[in-house]
Amino acid sequence: MIELAPSILSADFAHLGDQVAAVEAGGATVLHVDVMDGHFVSNITIGPPVVASLRKATDLPLDCHLMIENPDQYIPAFAEAGASWISVHQEACVHLHRTLQLIESHGCKPGVVVNPATPIETLSEIVGMVHHVLIMSVNPGFGGQKFIPTSVDKIARLAAMRKQHDASFSIEVDGGVDRDTIGKVVRAGAQILVAGNAVFGHGNPTVNAKELLALASDAERERKRVGMQYV
Ligand code: DX5
Ligand code: ZN
Repeated sequence: MIELAPSILSADFAHLGDQVAAVEAGGATVLHVDVMDGHFVSNITIGPPVVASLRKATDLPLDCHLMIENPDQYIPAFAEAGASWISVHQEACVHLHRTLQLIESHGCKPGVVVNPATPIETLSEIVGMVHHVLIMSVNPGFGGQKFIPTSVDKIARLAAMRKQHDASFSIEVDGGVDRDTIGKVVRAGAQILVAGNAVFGHGNPTVNAKELLALASDAERERKRVGMQYV
């Protein structure tokens, strides 16, 4: 199943509840929440209080993408605030296995994220533990950046790796996903599509979400018809 996960990073924070309702009306089935600490990435965004408010505003799963150092220190607070999924960066976790266990022990679905320069092979020992693997298709820190084209092949290789390991995680992609790139990532095997600027940056978020989902569904039909060797 293909899912659209609008990133609230590009939303109007003064009208967050309305913006969430708008994308829900457009068919979004996950809400992507970008948490940045000014250390792991240079930008600063939001913390557990905003997650707690979102939890009251919607029943959609809250997909919390932690772009922070020392994630173990904050995982309990995000879980308590109502996070549904919590993903941590491979590059930020010295003891990744333990961190994924910590997320699970707090009742959240664990995910792992890799930056554009990080090989997916670094995940081979933990692919059986995660609910989702998030491929960054921009360098993290800001919305509205340009999609890095080599991410398409990386997604296809991740799908192949999932098969080799007989694992069941979902493949998520984040960064520069828009009308031009969404078909490519879906045909490569991406299932959860994060989009910030393409949903909230201009026009009507409900219409934008619907259009992106329609393009993604077309690409998914094509992927199944052609029978991608990897997935
Ligand atoms: C980047 C964030 C992304 C970002 C995506 O560090 O992780 O989730 O909001 O935004 P767009 O879709 O605008 O590239
Ligand atoms: Zn993100």
